[in-house]
Parts: sequence; C-alpha cells; structure tokens
Amino acid sequence: MTIIETPPGAPLAESCIPVLETERLVLRTPGAEDIPAMAEHANNRKIAEMTASLPWPYRASDARAFVDTQFHQPHSAFFAVLLKREGDLTFTGIASYVRRPGENAPEIGYWLGEPFWGRGLATEAVRAVIDYAFSETELETLLGAARVVNPASRRVLEKCGFQWSGVGLCQVKAVGASVPVDRFVLERRTWASIRAWGARGLPKRCRNTAGKTPLDVH
Ligand SMILES: CC(C)(COP(=O)(O)OP(=O)(O)OC[C@H]1O[C@@H](n2cnc3c(N)ncnc32)[C@H](O)[C@@H]1OP(=O)(O)O)[C@@H](O)C(=O)NCCC(=O)NCCS
Repeated sequence: MTIIETPPGAPLAESCIPVLETERLVLRTPGAEDIPAMAEHANNRKIAEMTASLPWPYRASDARAFVDTQFHQPHSAFFAVLLKREGDLTFTGIASYVRRPGENAPEIGYWLGEPFWGRGLATEAVRAVIDYAFSETELETLLGAARVVNPASRRVLEKCGFQWSGVGLCQVKAVGASVPVDRFVLERRTWASIRAWGARGLPKRCRNTAGKTPLDVH
C-alpha cells in the first residue's frame, strides 16, 4: 500500500485522511462526485441486507447524507474504493472503520457494487484500510462482523487475518430486525506478524540428499 499525500488546498476534513493506493485500487475520502455511482450500486437489496446501516431502497439523498455526515463520526475513517481502469478511476464501493457507541474498538465495514464481486477487490481494499489503521493510527484492535448467511464477507475477514471471536446479534436497517452475526477481531500484533511473515517469502527448497541437512550439502 502506498500513501499519497493529500494535495495542498484540500478541505481540512479531507486532508486528515490520506489517499491510499494498492495494486488495482485507489482509496480516498468519499466526495460529492461519488454520489451517482454510490446510489446506483448501493441500491441493491443483496448489499443492503448484508450491512448494518444501508437503507433499501437506497437513493441519491442517502448517498449525499453519507458523504455529508462521515466527518462527524469520531474514531472512524471512510474510503471510496476506486478501481484503476485505463487511466481512469471507477467507483466500486466503500470501505471504512467506525467506532460504535459502547464498543472500545472500531469495526471494519465494506461493500462493493455487484459487478465488482469475485475478483479479490474487497480483500485488497480491506487490507489497505487495515494497513492504514495500524500503521498510521494508534489503534490496537479492529473488530469485524458478518451475517452468518454471508460466507463471502466472512472469507474476506479471514483472508485479512481476522479471528473468530464469537456470535452476536446485529440490527440491520434494510431488514428492520436483529440478525445473527459472527464476530471477529484483529489485534495489531497479529497484523504485524502476518505482514512480517509475508515479507519473508517462502522457505527455500533443498534437494533431498539421503539424510544430509542443507548445512552438510552447502
Ligand atoms: C462481501 C463482499 C464485500 C465481497 O466482495 P468481493 O470483492 O467479491 O470479495 P473477494 O473477492 O475479495 O473475496 C471473497 C471471498 O469469498 C469467497 N466466497 C464468495 N462467495 C462465497 C460463498 N457463497 N461461499 C463461500 N465463499 C464464498 C470467494 O471465493 C473469496 O474467497 P477466496 O479468495 O478464498 O476464493 C461483496 O460480496 C459485497 O459487497 N457484498 C454485500 C455487502 C457485504 O456483504 N458487506 C460486508 C458486510 S459484513
């Protein structure tokens, strides 16, 4: 993940959150320019019913309210997830973390428009948000939750290093009820270990030389 400094002259609230770049994505603060695509993609029952706070139907006014109110949430960060395509950036969805009242750590949240599912993009975006949270802030813990009927989201959390911590109930606005969820946690030290492990590469393979150790062979 590369962190791009926000250009001088950017509005104060936006300048607090940097722009993140990964292999295929750019993540930056959601803005007014994202409202049409956000409203188009989020107006999908399959998405709303898997997230806690998205209404359904989802209208442009909901996207506008989200863009306007995101800065007022403490201990939170919101990113529009943009796909790099032929020199252009296409809005695909949202990745965030938000500290809910009563919780002592923020919870990761994400959704992508349906045309972008199944390509590893959510995992790439969530990893960038996690890297940002643990490398640029003092956070020690991130929480995650996925409906028990949402194996794709559960898999995203697992691929990002989250560990299952129990079950619970979560109020889902689009369903109008509380639903069972699996809860997950990612500690900073687990993240640091996974990052270090990946950076080290795979162990070298040595020829099987009839009982000799690699030290004998070299
Ligand atoms: C969940 C969501 C973000 C996943 O986006 P995505 O870009 O397709 O995710 P990725 O491709 O990075 O990873 C999905 C993983 O789930 C797996 N998966 C997908 N559908 C699955 C299913 N029905 N059963 C088991 N695994 C499944 C994929 O194979 C992939 O795992 P793999 O890389 O090991 O093969 C997207 O489907 C979405 O926005 N859904 C609606 C909103 C939502 O659920 N948000 C999360 C709220 S907790």
